[in-house]
Amino acid sequence: MKFDTPAGINPIDRETVIGKPHPRIEGPLKTTGTAIYSYENHAVAPNAAYGYVVGAGIAKGRIASMNVAEAEAAPGVLAIITADNAGPVKSSGFYVAKPLAGPDVDHYHQAIALVVADTFEQARAAAGLIRVDYTRGKGAFDLPAARAGAKAHQRQPDVRIGDFEGAFAKAAVKVDQTYTTPDQSHMMMEPHATIARWDGDELTLWSAQQIVGWARRDLANKIGVPQDKIRVVATYIGGGFGGKGSVCSDAVLASLGARATGRAVKVALPRPLMPNNTTHRAATIQRVRLGAGKDGKLIAIGHESLSGNLPGGGPEIAAAQTELLYAGANRLNLTRLATLDLPEGNAMRAPGEASGMMALEVAMDELAEKLGMDPVELRIINDTQVVPSDPGRGSGTDPQSASGNQGPQKPAARPFSTRELVQCLRTGADRFGWKARDPKPGARRDGNWLIGMGMASAIRGAPIIPAGARVTLDAKGMVTVESNMTDMGTGSYTIIGQTAAEMMGLPLDRIIVKLADTRFPEAFGGGGQAGAATATAGVYAACVKLREVVATSLGFNSGDVEFADGEVRSGNRRVPLAGAAKAKPITAEDKMEYGDLSKRYEQQTFGAHFCEVGVDAWTGEIRIRRMLAVCAAGRILNPTTARSQVIGGMVMGAGAALMEELAVDKRFGFFVNHDLASYEVPVHADIPHQDVFFLDELDPTMSPLKAKGVGELGISGVAPAIANAIYNATGIRVREYPLTLDKHL
Ligand code: MOS
Repeated sequence: MKFDTPAGINPIDRETVIGKPHPRIEGPLKTTGTAIYSYENHAVAPNAAYGYVVGAGIAKGRIASMNVAEAEAAPGVLAIITADNAGPVKSSGFYVAKPLAGPDVDHYHQAIALVVADTFEQARAAAGLIRVDYTRGKGAFDLPAARAGAKAHQRQPDVRIGDFEGAFAKAAVKVDQTYTTPDQSHMMMEPHATIARWDGDELTLWSAQQIVGWARRDLANKIGVPQDKIRVVATYIGGGFGGKGSVCSDAVLASLGARATGRAVKVALPRPLMPNNTTHRAATIQRVRLGAGKDGKLIAIGHESLSGNLPGGGPEIAAAQTELLYAGANRLNLTRLATLDLPEGNAMRAPGEASGMMALEVAMDELAEKLGMDPVELRIINDTQVVPSDPGRGSGTDPQSASGNQGPQKPAARPFSTRELVQCLRTGADRFGWKARDPKPGARRDGNWLIGMGMASAIRGAPIIPAGARVTLDAKGMVTVESNMTDMGTGSYTIIGQTAAEMMGLPLDRIIVKLADTRFPEAFGGGGQAGAATATAGVYAACVKLREVVATSLGFNSGDVEFADGEVRSGNRRVPLAGAAKAKPITAEDKMEYGDLSKRYEQQTFGAHFCEVGVDAWTGEIRIRRMLAVCAAGRILNPTTARSQVIGGMVMGAGAALMEELAVDKRFGFFVNHDLASYEVPVHADIPHQDVFFLDELDPTMSPLKAKGVGELGISGVAPAIANAIYNATGIRVREYPLTLDKHL
């Protein structure tokens, strides 16, 4: 099915099941401990052996020698996989770090061996008997020091529009500040874990993967096995946050270990290995320059972001959203990447926006203060309904045509498909009681607590990707949906079930949803907040086909039938849906594909975050008191699961603002705090009150569902809203995250 014009009225608009709150349909399995996660799938591999990953003890250099003799002779050991016997292991794919080192070592805790044994304890004990000598090389581990060699990257071309430097120099009011964000670790609850089993030349992985199609593709390339010989299953996933976007050492080495031993092999990464063995969010140094007239209108917007990565890795695109968020004729947007020998930086929790907004939205707060203007109002007057960096993206060659390009009168600039940032800001200000805020820092007090309020805008992309699904109606009137979409605790099972229920005119309990298996039709997966809109569109397409087959088989003219209450109806005639499948089940499969709507419209989600904090006047202790998110993200398919996504994002934003930081050992090149005792994340007591409000919005350019993703919007803008609240409470502006209490004394 091709979707190339904005959606009109369709069965989804009835909103009898879609759009209604419903708890996650797989929730009871999870809360009763009966949902089977990858590592626990004993049934598929009753005789599985255990693999234990050994991480490199240096960050950069070579393995001079490795003696595995003693480990091989240890009780229960079946095989030890190293670069010497593994065969070629490549570094291509979404994650570029090589999953098996040797002889070269590219980063600390890069896997150098997998010990396979009958039991986990035997594998772990034998791993301790491997003797390694390294030749340590000189590595680069310090981002500021690596700045000199930083380069542009094709993922984020330079944007130079108008005359930024000239306009900034002339601006009546300006901010020129530098903000830093630290390296961060995903710290999802379920570690990276895989069971690999070979049946002849066919390999099956039960693996914690956000995108099973990418896992299959990348594993195929990494170990040289044809894609069609690999199946990846990820029925339940205990969180991912971008860290399970493709295969890591657990999946790759479990596959090799299983091939070497002829046994199924299960590998889970121990928590202390994860920060350095897998990917993380890279630290940034960001300079933001804002120039405005006395009226608060931005005339110059500059955002430069520096991050580092190991060779082949990409930049944290922290400046990207600044091309879209506010109007302004003169723009400079530069993303620079330095080479570091730290572990790989890659997608984590709204990569780009989460870090970038931590700079831009604090700079906006600083500008508002200099202007003597309310920060909500400053954002509202700089709203734009068209992409402010169109035309001229990256060209910088024709300042004449590229200047003064904001405003709807210029047809060359693409409109946003929907953009209700202003409504989010106004609604949020009302609901939060923003009027009560005193713009003067340190003015409000509650005993020892200095009270402050802060806010920030939110923006996050709404990608839509072709996706398919298969739907089957059986004689009992049950509909089974199959899609390789995943659910990492996000609610995919539920919204996909709701989509099929709405389309087929059935209650949700008549739908069986099967996800996350590469044998099912391709539907991308969980990432980039693309999953919800993308996968449901595939289900819509398959259901349209099923409706046609059902209607025809029941003798209806398929043009004017309605599917409702378990019946197929037209005029006076009504037939039970199940009747169509009496003889045998009816299956339909289709894929939603897209024309150029995504090129004609800029598809983004918008929001506004508000926060109130208390800061102890004597100790600097910072406590969040309440938070509010207002989101505009198309049709909200399920307010319960969407809210859970957003409050999860808000908690992550609180972590980013106040506590999360991987400490870099700059001498030896590794992240020091590698467990949940030393890498702090927020707990319930850190988040006393959260409110989430969704604007009633439909985006007909996205798909017939008119929905967008919402999960990562929940984190974008949260940390700066907290930072701005702390400033309002204390008058102390800290620009180095996390905003720990010591920085406020
Ligand atoms: Mo997300 S970091 O796009 O999985």
